[in-house]
Amino acid sequence: MLEELIRAWDGEQTVVHFDRASGTWMFVCLHSTRRGPAGGGTRMKAYADPAAALEDAMRLSAAMTLKMAAVGLPFGGGKAVLAVPALPEGEDRRHLLLRYSELVASLGGSFHTGPDVNTSPADMDVIAERCSYVYCRSEERGGSGDPGPHTALGVFHGIRASLGHEYGSPELEGRAVLVQGVGSVGAPLAELLSTAGARVLLSDVAVDRARVLADRIGATVVPPEDAVGTECDVFAPCALGGTLNAETIPRLRCRVVAGSANNQLAQPEDAARLRGAGILYAPDYVINAGGALNAIGVETLGWDRETSKQRVAAIGDTLAEIY
Ligand code: PHE
Repeated sequence: MLEELIRAWDGEQTVVHFDRASGTWMFVCLHSTRRGPAGGGTRMKAYADPAAALEDAMRLSAAMTLKMAAVGLPFGGGKAVLAVPALPEGEDRRHLLLRYSELVASLGGSFHTGPDVNTSPADMDVIAERCSYVYCRSEERGGSGDPGPHTALGVFHGIRASLGHEYGSPELEGRAVLVQGVGSVGAPLAELLSTAGARVLLSDVAVDRARVLADRIGATVVPPEDAVGTECDVFAPCALGGTLNAETIPRLRCRVVAGSANNQLAQPEDAARLRGAGILYAPDYVINAGGALNAIGVETLGWDRETSKQRVAAIGDTLAEIY
């Protein structure tokens, strides 16, 4: 199965490493270095089998190629997946990250990484101990910190642009937005939306996490199984990918899908399904580029905070142009 995937992939390079000490499969997929070194986050997750992990890394990596190009960064696309038996903590986590760091260092700068699902700036600090190709170290260590709020800001501007296209006005006042997944991007996004006057609906498999945030920002909690079928103006997938598929699309009761998750479409044909249902879809790799944009802009291209904010806001203009 791994062999079939590697043979069939259209990317440039697949790096496979099995970490015997922890039973972790490490996959680093360099989809393209045409625009520059491959850039992309490091995802840590337990998968059903190594092939599922490799497939995820390959698809996420290809999305990074599109993302870097869509926002004009001098990078290609890559992604790393650490397929762990269970999420490690403490010293086990630290040593796993150090061994991973040596793998990234051995690639000699053809792959640059940052945080993704289940990895944080604290993890990037550890990786940075043995390898310099790392974005989003904590601010104390000289990095640009958590990319989540920057991704959220880009999605916020993307939602405004999508509303502008669909309803003729970008204003959030009175619009219902359902945020599915209140993690490092969904939570700050919900807060921005609420401050802008939207009626915010929150849904998360960790129901308590949704409830705590809802109480704080004045939102309503929707049970995870009802998220897709709940009526709203904008459905914002901010959890794991694959939310939009042949089974869920017919149940959507929104006019716009615009959220931060990578690989929201289970299959390419789901784009046509959304269009057929009359739903405007903000391509995930455009609307969710704010995190990578801020990190690379600030840490490599010398942007100040204001420049970064403007570039992240321009994601809305890019979407309007695409529409
Ligand atoms: N998780 C980020 C994304 O999917 C990856 C990233 C963050 C890459 C920061 C580079 C820098 O876009």
